Amino acid sequence: MVVCPAVAAPAVRRSLGQCRPLRCGAGPRGTWALSGGGGSLRLCSTRASLEGINRPVIDRIIRVDHAGEYGANRIYAGQMAVLGRSSVGPIIQQMWNQEKDHLKKFNELMVAYRVRPTVLLPFWNVAGFVLGAGSALLGKKGAMACTVAVEESISDHYNNQIRTLVEEDPEKYKELLQIIKQFRDDEREHHDIGIEHDAEMAPAYSVLKTAIQLGCKAAIFLSERI
Ligand SMILES: [Fe+2]
Ligand SMILES: [Fe+2]
Repeated sequence: MVVCPAVAAPAVRRSLGQCRPLRCGAGPRGTWALSGGGGSLRLCSTRASLEGINRPVIDRIIRVDHAGEYGANRIYAGQMAVLGRSSVGPIIQQMWNQEKDHLKKFNELMVAYRVRPTVLLPFWNVAGFVLGAGSALLGKKGAMACTVAVEESISDHYNNQIRTLVEEDPEKYKELLQIIKQFRDDEREHHDIGIEHDAEMAPAYSVLKTAIQLGCKAAIFLSERI
């Protein structure tokens, strides 16, 4: 048994009342690679108890949020591939950098809470990039319209999760709540940046926004479940 270096969320374990370190198992069910970006991480089998948490709720929350942050990273990657050298390149890069931090945190939470990623990650990899690049091909305003649509959906989604966790037990899920609230604020900021950069002037803005948000709803529904 080797102490797993990937388990980087001691505060999460503290919040769960755990005092033992999580460890990596070497057996067939012991470790498996996470392909969710943000570097190679390993999910670890552990004897540490996650007792007291509402397992189905936490599984669903962490799996879908990881998928969402992964998708957001792919969207910004697609936008940067098209608009990276334009005047909005630095602003897109700045938002992307924050998404990288978000994804890194959810990678850590998946390990700490022992949640498996959605099986749809390879699909979100392609779909996210295509959405980002496709919207950017409509121009800067198109890219920003995509940002507004996605970030509004994600911040609403985070608000729903905050309500769920508060109803469950705000003390038990204090740290998770803090993380989700912080990320919700970041997504809200991304949304506002999109508006400030003329998202609403994009061609067929409301059709585009509605279509993207329908896609986000479907992505959330699926990623929570499979
Ligand atoms: Fe994010
Ligand atoms: Fe965002």
